[in-house]
Amino acid sequence: MGAEQKVVIITGASQGIGADLVKAYRDRNYRVVANSRAIKPSSDPDILAVPGDVADPKTAERLVTQAIERFGRVDSLVNNAGIFIAKPFTHYTDEDFAPIVSINLGGFFSLTRRVAAEMLKRGSGHIVQITTSLIDHANSNVPSVLASLTKGGLNAATRSLAIEYAKKGIRVNAVAPGVIKTPMHAPETHEFLANLHPVGRMGETKDIVDAVLFLESAPFVTGEILHVDGGQSAGH
Ligand SMILES: NC(=O)c1ccc[n+]([C@@H]2O[C@H](COP(=O)([O-])OP(=O)(O)OC[C@H]3O[C@@H](n4cnc5c(N)ncnc54)[C@H](OP(=O)(O)O)[C@@H]3O)[C@@H](O)[C@H]2O)c1
Repeated sequence: MGAEQKVVIITGASQGIGADLVKAYRDRNYRVVANSRAIKPSSDPDILAVPGDVADPKTAERLVTQAIERFGRVDSLVNNAGIFIAKPFTHYTDEDFAPIVSINLGGFFSLTRRVAAEMLKRGSGHIVQITTSLIDHANSNVPSVLASLTKGGLNAATRSLAIEYAKKGIRVNAVAPGVIKTPMHAPETHEFLANLHPVGRMGETKDIVDAVLFLESAPFVTGEILHVDGGQSAGH
């Protein structure tokens, strides 16, 4: 136990994809630092819940400090916390723009640069962003420029950071989901959302978790944007 056990930081870990990522990493015997604004303490001593808004750089500071104090290392980071606001472009407001940028982009920046500094000391690590497949196949039925602006930025940063760290033992990847059945989507929208996918169904959280775990165990894969979207990015 102890020093040998790997440690992952997962943001947006209280529900949906993030909550299932926590379970999956625990099943692989990782110790988990789990964040969301309202996350509750866990009875599992190998899960450290650190509440806080990823848009606030102080949350990033606390996440990394507490991960090192409690578990001594950080092997992986999953930047999963994110928000999605779909609207026709001119309907977006400054009140939409500020949080989507500060959570989706600011959250990535504040936390990833602190975690990467720890990984560089050890000469190893893996960083994964959860983005969206919509970046690569804009759909007039789901206008969402601010999702493309922010998550598209994360895809670009993923490739850039993968190259910056390629010889430093740190891999950087992204998973680009289609529409996944999580509390983000009301049940009455599921049929419409299922039909947006060539395979005719929504994704399950397991589809995304399996993709993250594949990337975790794929040492020759870095700079990859792995589409897990029921065929959407291939066409319609
Ligand atoms: N579901 C989809 O169809 C879909 C498709 C493409 C991409 N994605 C991406 O996948 C990720 C997870 O989506 P999901 O469907 O699992 O979302 P979800 O069910 O809405 O859950 C979002 C999680 O993020 C946390 N969160 C939200 N804002 C936060 C903030 N400012 N700081 C820290 N934590 C925050 C929430 O907990 P608190 O409320 O406690 O903070 C919750 O744990 C997101 O980045 C999303 O954009 C989802």
